[in-house]
Amino acid sequence: MQDAAARAPQQHAVVLVEDREGKLHELETLEGWRLMEILRDHGVGMDTNCGGSLACAECHVLIDPAWMGRLPAPSQEELDKLDELPLIHENSRLSCQILWTDDYDGMKVTVAQAT
Ligand code: FES
Repeated sequence: MQDAAARAPQQHAVVLVEDREGKLHELETLEGWRLMEILRDHGVGMDTNCGGSLACAECHVLIDPAWMGRLPAPSQEELDKLDELPLIHENSRLSCQILWTDDYDGMKVTVAQAT
């Protein structure tokens, strides 16, 4: 039996985030949480949102293009809310609609500028 002290410490999957000031963060994640909740709880630009009810689009993020194909496609409701923003990109997503799984470990995300 392996001694507890000899075991590697528990490692969480991480998301790599560029905030609105261009500062980079490596944030620990929790599987099953919404990406917006992870960003909010780390204090990275999600402080004025609607709590994930698709009412505000304040949780707008840009997903690294290399990761876009690994995420489930957005719902029509998410696309409709994104369309209300003055500026969106091909890699725009609403982070409250992304349910975190450890398969996303290392994903890169940029918090979109407030509009
Ligand atoms: S938190 Fe309001 S739409 Fe995502």
